[in-house]
Amino acid sequence: MRIADLDLGSRPLLLAPMEDVSDPPFRLLCRRMGADLVYTEFISAGGLTYGAKGSVQKLELYDEERPAGIQIFGGEVDQVREAARIADAQNPELIDINFGCPVKKVVCKDGGAGILRNLPKMEAITQAVVEAAQRPVTVKTRLGWNDESIRIEEVARMLEATGVQALAVHARTRSQMYKGTARWEWFPRIKAALTDIPLIGNGDATTPEKVKAMFDETGVDAVMIGRGAIGNPWIFRDAKAFLEHGEIPDPPTWEERVSVVAEHLVGKCAWLGERKGVLEMRRMYGGYFKGHRGASRLRTELMQHKEKDAVLEVLLNWREDEPDVQVPVAAPVAVRPARLPKKATLPAAVQARIDKRTKSAA
Ligand SMILES: Cc1cc2nc3c(=O)[nH]c(=O)nc-3n(C[C@H](O)[C@H](O)[C@H](O)COP(=O)(O)O)c2cc1C
Repeated sequence: MRIADLDLGSRPLLLAPMEDVSDPPFRLLCRRMGADLVYTEFISAGGLTYGAKGSVQKLELYDEERPAGIQIFGGEVDQVREAARIADAQNPELIDINFGCPVKKVVCKDGGAGILRNLPKMEAITQAVVEAAQRPVTVKTRLGWNDESIRIEEVARMLEATGVQALAVHARTRSQMYKGTARWEWFPRIKAALTDIPLIGNGDATTPEKVKAMFDETGVDAVMIGRGAIGNPWIFRDAKAFLEHGEIPDPPTWEERVSVVAEHLVGKCAWLGERKGVLEMRRMYGGYFKGHRGASRLRTELMQHKEKDAVLEVLLNWREDEPDVQVPVAAPVAVRPARLPKKATLPAAVQARIDKRTKSAA
């Protein structure tokens, strides 16, 4: 499957853009586990044009995570055009426009899925980005605003004619938010509406079996995984293996699991600062330790600490063979050594950049 000149191989798996989730430490983990393409979380066009620190930081891409797309959102043509120029200067493999975010404060300004109520403006924004960017431009959207206004086939044709190089569709309407099931039955119709560009299917591909089913049953060219990767970056490895030989590898050992969580925590703290990093990691533990004996107790313990080292201390010394009546044991888990190396390591180049950032912040 290709997006312009970018060859992603056959049946590629993409990490979805997810606010506060798809940041560099997580993108790096997912790439290592087999994600073929990753996206930044959505970045406000307004924030970029005003030079807001938080927005600008989100543009940063590391060589190890490429290929990567930068996703921008906004409802003002001039602002989104300018944001595309700024994003383009970072040399991402592609620039993605978010026309799918359902959040009220975004849609009320014609951003995200809000634009599905104003297709001429959607076209104008897309046109502006395609003209401003040197890089391929892609779009991620939803089926429509609500059940009464699903015009995704028309939207797909319009976007392709405007010069978009791939279309990702989360198969829900804006009104559905994240409720109900994703309506994969729309994918063949959208695919038929497109002439040359690939369709990226998104929504509820949360297990290797579902990833395969989305490919097999709908004819999408790529599958984008969101929530299924939160606390489970191994989903990319597992889904790839399942697609290739119909078997899912053994789950990671406890040691692997803990070292990935530690790496994620260390990376997040380096990226966001310790306080925010520790806080944001809290929403990951549910996924990381799901089904493990003592998971709820471990989570409670991890949540009690505000310092990274204290969290690591709990994590690396956790004995999972203590009883916990609240969580059923899903499968026997490997006995782990009493201690793991204290310092989780990141790729050297990433660490060097993080050190530089930490120094300049000090
Ligand atoms: C925590 C979270 C943050 C999200 N942030 C974004 C975002 O920044 N940009 C975007 O296009 N979609 C965002 N989404 C939507 C996902 O990219 C994806 O479309 C949606 O979760 C459906 O896919 P899934 O069923 O595989 O999770 C977010 C979803 C979640 C759960």
